[in-house]
Amino acid sequence: MQQDNLKKREGFSSSIGVIAAVLGSAVGLGNIWKFPYVTGANGGAAFILIYLVCLALVGLPVMLSEHLIGRNTKSNAVGAFKVLQPKKPWFLVGGAGVLSAFLIMAFYTSVAGWVYAYIFKAAGGGLLSTNPKETSLVFNTLVSGVGEPLFWQMFVLLVTGTIIMAGVAKGIERVTKVLMPILFILLIVIDIRSLTLPGASEGLSFLFKPDFSKITVSVILAALGLAFFKLSVGMGAMITYGSYVGENENLPKMALKVALSDTLVSLMAGIAIFPAVFAFGFEPNAGPPLLFITIPTVFSSMPFGGVFMVLFFVLTAIAATGAMLSLLEVPVAYFTEQHNWSRRKSTLVTILGIGLLGSTATLSNSILANVTIFSKNLFDFYDFITSNILLPLGGIFIALFVGWQWGKSKVYQEISNNGQINNQGLADVFLFLVRFVVPIGITLVLLAGLKIISF
Ligand code: TRP
Repeated sequence: MQQDNLKKREGFSSSIGVIAAVLGSAVGLGNIWKFPYVTGANGGAAFILIYLVCLALVGLPVMLSEHLIGRNTKSNAVGAFKVLQPKKPWFLVGGAGVLSAFLIMAFYTSVAGWVYAYIFKAAGGGLLSTNPKETSLVFNTLVSGVGEPLFWQMFVLLVTGTIIMAGVAKGIERVTKVLMPILFILLIVIDIRSLTLPGASEGLSFLFKPDFSKITVSVILAALGLAFFKLSVGMGAMITYGSYVGENENLPKMALKVALSDTLVSLMAGIAIFPAVFAFGFEPNAGPPLLFITIPTVFSSMPFGGVFMVLFFVLTAIAATGAMLSLLEVPVAYFTEQHNWSRRKSTLVTILGIGLLGSTATLSNSILANVTIFSKNLFDFYDFITSNILLPLGGIFIALFVGWQWGKSKVYQEISNNGQINNQGLADVFLFLVRFVVPIGITLVLLAGLKIISF
């Protein structure tokens, strides 16, 4: 059903544009910053295997669910549920999504700001040191400062806000269509560099040879959380993007393509990082600073490292930017459609709100370091509460909605483009996953990971 909206609704203008935008959302700091350090901290290949299982059985079905809801309703995260179930409180799931967008952006823009800053530091030669103590000093000076990290965070918000204001096709689609191919090329170049280092094989076995002794339930929760974060699901970003997708796109195929390409990018980021880390004798489990301390030191230790370092941070900034567009679009679409604000006003209010909340994340490394919630500083709290709690919870409700509330025949209709694609078997598997596997699986992992139940 179309929403009776008098304004003509913008959408993506081509299939390539759709893929670029959706993949642009999935690929981000998740692949290049989070995936390597979480994998490093949780023992490598065994964690990756569990992550892949979470991705296939949980992440992918939730992504498809969101695309189906979005395209069917042509509405934002909140509006979509109101169109489908006007009398029931399902729209709260979308409301929680809008809130999650602010919380994720709070820490995401902080890290993206460091990345932008690092491009300039790398280009100016300020990161060229083979002594990890010196690179740590550069990183710690940046993050424990006040003016400098705040400046970069606001800069990031201005850049992404400007693109969002330009619109869905003219902003998001146009930018991601150019940036995504560049990202792939840069990643290939850096992978070749890393793989040709002497000693690269140790890093590869860390990535691909599993050791299951490191796996605990909180590791499984981390893998599940990463799967949600990676695919940008659980908070309505994919409902919003799905609402801009044309009637003839094959949605299951698209979700599969995006999940596979995104995983490829994560593995390629791992291949860029771990062989180099091992080749130069660093520890893989450095945690969040892995990207910002280890990587510059590693690049400084190799021929032409300075050039590769700049390329690497440009690549990371590109990835982060495409992802942030989808995070911004959730509240922006919500404000424009549910509150009838102009796109300009919606964008300004959104980036202002994120700027305020986000500065508390940035300052949690300096003047707000003593503010803690559940013994986490604000930055870690925003990350934990979204990745490990709000996104999985959102995933449960989105799956329950599609599996039990929407109606089997409507789901079949949307998934097959009104019978144009013959994919009944796939639809049956999908329905089984969203009815049982996703809600039960997430609930168990969530309760166990939070130590509410134990096996
Ligand atoms: N997927 C992005 C990444 O890996 C982050 C992201 C973009 C996201 N949009 C999202 C995460 C929506 C959760 C929900 O960096």
